[in-house]
Amino acid sequence: MNHRQVFLRHVAQTSPAPLALEIVKARGTWLEGKDGKKYLDLIAGISVCNIGHCHPQVVKAIRKQAEKYLHLMVYGEFVEQPQVAYAKLLTSLLPVTLNSVYFTNSGAEATEAAMKLAKRVTGKTQIIAFNQSYHGSTQGALSIIGDEYWRNAFRPLLPGIHHASYNDPGLLNLINNQTAAVILESVQAERGVFTPNREWLAALRRRCSETGALLVMDEIQTGFGRTGKLWGFEWGDVVPDAVLLGKALGGGMPLGALVADKQLMDVFTENPVLGHITTFGGHPVSCAAGLAATEVLLENRYLEKVQEKEILFRSMLQHPAIEAVRSKGLLMAIAFADFETNKKIIDHCIENGLLTDWFLFAPHCLRIAPPLSITKKEIRQACTILTDAITAVTGKSGQPG
Ligand SMILES: Cc1ncc(COP(=O)(O)O)c(C=O)c1O
Repeated sequence: MNHRQVFLRHVAQTSPAPLALEIVKARGTWLEGKDGKKYLDLIAGISVCNIGHCHPQVVKAIRKQAEKYLHLMVYGEFVEQPQVAYAKLLTSLLPVTLNSVYFTNSGAEATEAAMKLAKRVTGKTQIIAFNQSYHGSTQGALSIIGDEYWRNAFRPLLPGIHHASYNDPGLLNLINNQTAAVILESVQAERGVFTPNREWLAALRRRCSETGALLVMDEIQTGFGRTGKLWGFEWGDVVPDAVLLGKALGGGMPLGALVADKQLMDVFTENPVLGHITTFGGHPVSCAAGLAATEVLLENRYLEKVQEKEILFRSMLQHPAIEAVRSKGLLMAIAFADFETNKKIIDHCIENGLLTDWFLFAPHCLRIAPPLSITKKEIRQACTILTDAITAVTGKSGQPG
């Protein structure tokens, strides 16, 4: 059996048709297949590789840490230098009330931790989340995601969860003195990139403060410059009580985090002691990699160019078969008539060396979320391949603008 056959047989599958590309090397914005074929990466491992693949400073940090120590002890017991250094940097980049970092292994675990934190801090049990939001696939996180198709097969899920519509002012009446937390993405990514209205967000913040509910913002996909600001919530006038981090947080290594005020976070230390525990959360190699990646992101000032790159993409993605383009920085959804059309375009792009994908709750939308380090030349190249694919699949013709 070749690798592909072994993959299909012995590596558990999550869909009947995985992309099954066999990549042997990844650098910057490029992936290289076993056959030497190169792919320009428009999805960055789903918003993970914000500074590109295998940045030499990240690889060096991983090597250096691996030579010192790997796993030492369960989370929170030892003073592990990479965790300390990364927590210091992260909290210096966040509002002062977000000053304590609980490191996890994944985004979903950060969501779980936030739900537990909110229950303990407020003594309340109800959680409000949003239709078409995504927060992870574990049972707690699954309970709050906003799509019945994905939830239903796994019931019973957590009780006390209410779903509201993003940007709906009616939501404010749902938040009451039973509400432990309101959890939302700062941009709804998997819905196909929907942004919150500023006034609505501000009203939501006020209502949470009035009732004592925690406002938790999920920055797992939007964090680390993806939207053109370091954190997606910076586009609004609000400071959340807690943020969820993941994906780009680990610089290509597995890492998640819940960040909140130390006074809140301290509830995990008593009644019960060890109120939230993990063996591997905040692995020293992941923290060393994440720290190096964040330093690279800041040193290279990638954020400053995000908006002009977004504008370049938007100006080139003109085609009669495109029904809508929604974006916030380099998180972009290109809507087509239906999933079948989108999937054919995606396959055509991959065939021609451009890697893209669709969105979980918007299968008719094509995903553009490249490394923020993508160059303008690469953007032009990507848009040419993409518009050619749209023409080939739909039969409609259009020239990039
Ligand atoms: C907004 C958001 N929240 C949470 C998660 C879950 O993160 P993980 O897959 O690391 O559990 C994701 C993953 O796609 C996400 O996009």
